[in-house]
Amino acid sequence: MLFKTLEMAPPDPIFHLKEAFTRDPNPLKIDLSVGVYQDAQGNTPILGSVKRAEDMILNAETSKTYLSISGSSQYAEAVQTLLFGPGHEIVASKRAMTAHTPGGTGALRVAGDLFTRVSPQARVWVSEPTWPNHPNVFLAAGMEVKTYPYWDKASNDIVLDRMLATIRQIPQGDVVVLHGCCHNPTGVDPTPEQWTQIGDALAERSLLPLVDLAYQGFANGIHQDAAGVLALCDPLPELMIASSYSKNFGLYNERVGALTIVTGSQENAKTTLSHVQRCIRANYSNPPAHGASIVTAVLNDPQLRAEWETEVKEMRDRINQMRGLFADCLAAKGVQRDFAFVKRQRGMFTMTGLTPEQVDQLRIEHSIYMVRSGRINVAGMTESNMETICQAIADVLDGS
Ligand code: LMR
Repeated sequence: MLFKTLEMAPPDPIFHLKEAFTRDPNPLKIDLSVGVYQDAQGNTPILGSVKRAEDMILNAETSKTYLSISGSSQYAEAVQTLLFGPGHEIVASKRAMTAHTPGGTGALRVAGDLFTRVSPQARVWVSEPTWPNHPNVFLAAGMEVKTYPYWDKASNDIVLDRMLATIRQIPQGDVVVLHGCCHNPTGVDPTPEQWTQIGDALAERSLLPLVDLAYQGFANGIHQDAAGVLALCDPLPELMIASSYSKNFGLYNERVGALTIVTGSQENAKTTLSHVQRCIRANYSNPPAHGASIVTAVLNDPQLRAEWETEVKEMRDRINQMRGLFADCLAAKGVQRDFAFVKRQRGMFTMTGLTPEQVDQLRIEHSIYMVRSGRINVAGMTESNMETICQAIADVLDGS
């Protein structure tokens, strides 16, 4: 008997909250847990550009036959153009390969499987703190996971000196995971100058960056948010990017992402792709088509593309507006701790500094759900729930 002997596995620190939230009968409950965008009415709508693309696809579709192991070449081209910009040398020279994966998580897992296949001694370094699923994914792929300092709780800022000092001691050939923009969970991103310093330090040590780009368009703009990736392309001949279209296309449950690997030549890219294909075939065989068809259609149709860019801007502006309101509302409630840092950060997340016990209290007494690390999803805030959230946080911080 095997299953009879099993004990419960620990719950996922983020997704278990979604389930607890759904079960909560309180009609006034508020979900600030999982990183899902909500509009001013608290809904997660399907983007207009996505709906229109889906109509086109459903009308034109004639077959559900398999895609190739690494997905369609039109999708790969669209992904690369979105990352590097039209006509970029990396795209023109064909020295990058892109595989279509189920979500950004799928891309990270394929990357992990690739390392264990072609560089089994490589360890992977993630920021402290990072998205809790990062260590999970790489451990499951059989890698050793290490951390580098990234963020300081007291100043709520990046600790670049300590980060660079650690990077300068990482053995050659190891992999360093970076968040391309909208760092999850802190919302603190490197400045352009800091990206240059990070790129130089990685190049000095011959380290391989794996950039997790899950929020392109949510920080400063669609093209602006690829600036970190582009800064790394200058000093580094090789790098990897895990893209997700869950957030910027609102395609959460379609599971659409991509793994792009920049290599030194077209020949290297082809060889690398052959290994990536082996990893994919042994895992999920080949990717699901629908989400990638939507992304390709939207990016390649000028009208849909323009509509999508406007929709991304609306989401970004709303999140930034909520950041401002949140900080101001807490200050207006006389909360002693200065939350002005929330306004400087970007993306869906910020660290409130609340302890796990205070987070529990918010959930139990106010039905407000957030990750126990103190991370909140700012995109779950609205003008209607802001007052309730800030009053509850003020009460909890007050010890009442
Ligand atoms: C999050 O961090 O909440 C999102 O990226 C969703 C997830 O998969 O954890």
